[in-house]
Amino acid sequence: MKQLIKGGTVVDASGAVPGDLLIEGEKIVGVVQTGSDTSAAWESGADRVFDASRKYVLPGGIDAHTHMEMPFGGSQSADTFETGTFAAAHGGTTTIIDFAIQARGTSLGEGFDTWSAKAAGNCYVDYGFHMIVSDVNEQSLKEMDLLVDAGISSFKLFMAYPGVFYSTDGEILLAMQKASENGATIMMHAENGIAIDVLVAQALARGETDPRYHGLTRPSILEGEATHRAIQLARVAGSPLYIVHLSAKEALEEVISARDSGLPVFAETCPQYLFLSDDDLARPGFDGAKYVCSPPVRPSSHQMDLWRGLRTGDLSVVATDHCPFCFAGQKELGRGDFSKIPNGLPGVEHRMDLIYQGVIRKEIGLSRWVDLVSTTPAKMFGLFPQKGSLAPGADADLVIYDPSASQTISAATHHMNVDYSTYEGMRIQGKVETVFSRGELLLEEGHFCGRKGHGSFLKRGLNQFI
Ligand code: URP
Ligand code: ZN
Ligand code: ZN
Repeated sequence: MKQLIKGGTVVDASGAVPGDLLIEGEKIVGVVQTGSDTSAAWESGADRVFDASRKYVLPGGIDAHTHMEMPFGGSQSADTFETGTFAAAHGGTTTIIDFAIQARGTSLGEGFDTWSAKAAGNCYVDYGFHMIVSDVNEQSLKEMDLLVDAGISSFKLFMAYPGVFYSTDGEILLAMQKASENGATIMMHAENGIAIDVLVAQALARGETDPRYHGLTRPSILEGEATHRAIQLARVAGSPLYIVHLSAKEALEEVISARDSGLPVFAETCPQYLFLSDDDLARPGFDGAKYVCSPPVRPSSHQMDLWRGLRTGDLSVVATDHCPFCFAGQKELGRGDFSKIPNGLPGVEHRMDLIYQGVIRKEIGLSRWVDLVSTTPAKMFGLFPQKGSLAPGADADLVIYDPSASQTISAATHHMNVDYSTYEGMRIQGKVETVFSRGELLLEEGHFCGRKGHGSFLKRGLNQFI
């Protein structure tokens, strides 16, 4: 099957050119100038031709941070691999990297098997896994080597959530030493959870139970402090470090100074930290619960620093940390006690569109958009050039994006399995029109035609920035 995408502006991380792109089977064959002889020959041999005039043609999005059906906070995130990847496909994301979890007292292998069983046969888009290490011990350290060989080349540790996922500095150092031997990347949830738990207990004792206290008890200074500590531990161990869901300027400053001194330190931020703020957490009644995630959404003054970080390259990736909980029956668990509100927000469907608003507002350029949402995540997590690229031989994961369309985000029209949207009523410019995954159409001019089970497990390599 040969498919030609004709007349579009082909955008990748290195630039944007007018061009025609040929797909053969699951792969991209090449991009040539529109109107060239090669293009005419491709057109006469093509089974299907897609007109991309006045549209952008870009590599499919890679969301490197999702939590489908994750047990957390006495509940389970509301999207399954089926519903979550269905929503991802609508938003132009053709690869997700989810977090398999080692439950305390079990092995990493058991966590991998459990998450593989949840995902296998259910996904509309390709998927890989990182591994959350909640029990650093001799066995799990040995298993890290086996998992790297199996394509799980990144491990998340937590400085937050004592008693759940939390690891001590000593445990973190041990995991980092292992990563410096086997080439894995350590991903860090950098918030000082021990100090935060004291602040939470003090707030509750004062009767401060509303959702806004979630933000006030997790000050940005404690994200900056934990980020600093994580960097120093990684420096001692000699391992690469990737800070997940960076939300605060204090944390960004630590990342900048580490990168300026040449350390292999990387960071991602998420749309919620670029578009939402503590004003949302303080919405009247219990509505602020819809915005509870950790780290918390910050005062809006942090946003311009984050956009600057995306521009300069100090922030490498935009992922969603998609971890949705319905308001009814899930977020409501925390009425009268903000610490019982399950932490996490929906987002997998709107990442590409939201970050495109940064192009419109001239915060970032068109190629930087593609780099942040597709190419750099592919390189960071060992998927390039199979993913995140339009080069010949790459998987034909493609998005035809209409920059002249506009849309209004709403829970009434989104495809995530969650009963609210954090961006309800937000009018945005640009829309995903057509999506291919390995040459198969998932979305054609807005009509879904994907297939459950099409998504395959991706065995990932090591971080390609090291
Ligand atoms: O609030 C959040 N971020 N929930 C998901 C789990 C995590 O820490 O990434
Ligand atoms: Zn986290
Ligand atoms: Zn997360």
